[in-house]
Amino acid sequence: MTVRLGPLEPSAAGEVLTLQRAAYVTEARHYGDLDLPPLVQTLDDLRDELAQADVVGLGAWDGDRLVGSVRVRVADDVGHLGRLVVAPDRQGQGIGTALLQAAEAAMPEGVREMRLFTGERSVDNLRLYERMGYVRSHETSAGTYALVHLAERIRP
Ligand SMILES: CC(C)(COP(=O)(O)OP(=O)(O)OC[C@H]1O[C@@H](n2cnc3c(N)ncnc32)[C@H](O)[C@@H]1OP(=O)(O)O)[C@@H](O)C(=O)NCCC(=O)NCCS
Repeated sequence: MTVRLGPLEPSAAGEVLTLQRAAYVTEARHYGDLDLPPLVQTLDDLRDELAQADVVGLGAWDGDRLVGSVRVRVADDVGHLGRLVVAPDRQGQGIGTALLQAAEAAMPEGVREMRLFTGERSVDNLRLYERMGYVRSHETSAGTYALVHLAERIRP
């Protein structure tokens, strides 16, 4: 894997949105729902998100090309990780794993736990998160399917 990881600036919002939409199409097919939040997020909203002080955004670049990204919202001692995406043609090469690890490493000192969720039918995602040490905590309803919430303690 020849990718470079680094912070995402608000100026990257357009590239992130393109990547996010491409990556989440498979999730939309799993759930028969083209209106998943990552697919309907607007450019302005994403730019604002990346500018927020409590949001840590990381990107993975192959040369000039953005091939992966993730965002974490920090609230007190918890990092809420979301929108982990890898370009469809680069999935399965370790980029998602590297972004997850980098996101944990980028957390401010006070963050003790990471939390995330994914849909119950996203068995590949669940396998990835559980392999990384995340443990299922609870489920919530997203209408016709459940969201599985997972957490990982990163500091004592
Ligand atoms: C989930 C995702 C970020 C993983 O990134 P990745 O770079 O493909 O993952 P890695 O190569 O580091 O790790 C591979 C593991 O990820 C999981 N995985 C999830 N989706 C995958 C995919 N489409 N292709 C390959 N692996 C996938 C599997 O557990 C796989 O492990 P395996 O070898 O045991 O099957 C990426 O597949 C993606 O963008 N998916 C679409 C968007 C999405 O669902 N995001 C997460 C929402 S909670």
